[in-house]
Amino acid sequence: MKKIVITGGAGFIGSHVVRRFVKSYPNYHIFNLDALTYAGNLENIADIQNEPNYTFIKGDIVDETFINNLFQEHQFDGVVHLAAESHVDRSITDPLSFVKTNVIGTMNLLNAAKTIWKDNCEGKRFYHISTDEVYGSLGAEGLFTETTSYDPNSPYSASKASSDHFVRAYGETYGLPYVVTNCSNNYGPFHFPEKLIPLFINNIINNKPLPVYGDGKYTRDWLFVEDHARAIDLVFHEGKNHETYNIGGFNEWQNIDLVKLLCQIMDKKLNRPEGKSAELITYVKDRPGHDLRYAIDATKINKELGWKPSVTFEEGLERTIDWYLANEKWLNNVTSGEYANYYKKQYN
Ligand SMILES: NC(=O)c1ccc[n+]([C@@H]2O[C@H](COP(=O)([O-])OP(=O)(O)OC[C@H]3O[C@@H](n4cnc5c(N)ncnc54)[C@H](O)[C@@H]3O)[C@@H](O)[C@H]2O)c1
Repeated sequence: MKKIVITGGAGFIGSHVVRRFVKSYPNYHIFNLDALTYAGNLENIADIQNEPNYTFIKGDIVDETFINNLFQEHQFDGVVHLAAESHVDRSITDPLSFVKTNVIGTMNLLNAAKTIWKDNCEGKRFYHISTDEVYGSLGAEGLFTETTSYDPNSPYSASKASSDHFVRAYGETYGLPYVVTNCSNNYGPFHFPEKLIPLFINNIINNKPLPVYGDGKYTRDWLFVEDHARAIDLVFHEGKNHETYNIGGFNEWQNIDLVKLLCQIMDKKLNRPEGKSAELITYVKDRPGHDLRYAIDATKINKELGWKPSVTFEEGLERTIDWYLANEKWLNNVTSGEYANYYKKQYN
């Protein structure tokens, strides 16, 4: 039985990846390693907690001794690394915690994997999950490809860029078998409501203002989270060692158009008069260093591995909104406590 450790599996994307691996691969034992920060939530994976091929381990990837001991004890065959501080706004107020988790934490995992695989790395794999934000900002034209130069603008993207470089360096210097993917913005169930889509769904439900940064013209490419989890599964099993793959939805939206679409759908779902939710739109002071546009060219993963998004944006949004409406308890649980304080500081 192969032992695979997935880091950050109690977070948004990680929970979908853990669920997929546990259900699809009964011949793997999946270890979900997560520190359960504000963004980690065991409710996200409650449905698989009793599966025989699943173990949850609460632990911090920044703790070098703990990570070394864990890898020595279990002798993992594969690492799927998603644990990270992931919110750009938080990285602006507390950059150092992003360096700790995203850079030092990744280094600890790299060192531990390198040590246990030093005699034989046949069949082993270190898979690092990254973001399109490492490429910086695009103008009105063009797409990020795997050869686009890194040009990160926020402490979050700088920390992810740094960790990507270390993963590659460990491949070149020590022969560590790695693969990296850089993905565009995800959306879907279990998304923490500090990020745009779940934040706005939650605010529309509660008739709270919808804070749109700047002029609302920022453009992002959106991908349904289950399509990302499917791509991760494919790359983990069929991607080539020492390669990078970009993953994206071919689905660009200006923030303001996306918010208006959300408002339209939510008016219908909540039986509100047309245009009612859009009255909540409020323009707020821009985020410093805000990247104008991200857009991914996902041709390589399509051509080499046959992956493409399977869920249209309309279907994905509908499924996401329905999930949030049906899971008010989850939403209430995660928006109480520490999150309430953060929200007040960020938007008031
Ligand atoms: N969300 C996106 O749109 C997106 C897009 C592309 C790439 N990514 C990348 O995918 C990964 C997952 O993103 P997400 O949106 O699911 O993030 P998330 O913030 O929802 O989840 C992160 C998880 O990591 C855990 N974690 C944080 N610090 C830790 C530490 N020191 N030790 C152990 N666990 C820790 C948290 O408890 C949480 O469960 C990240 O690496 C992120 O950079 C995200």
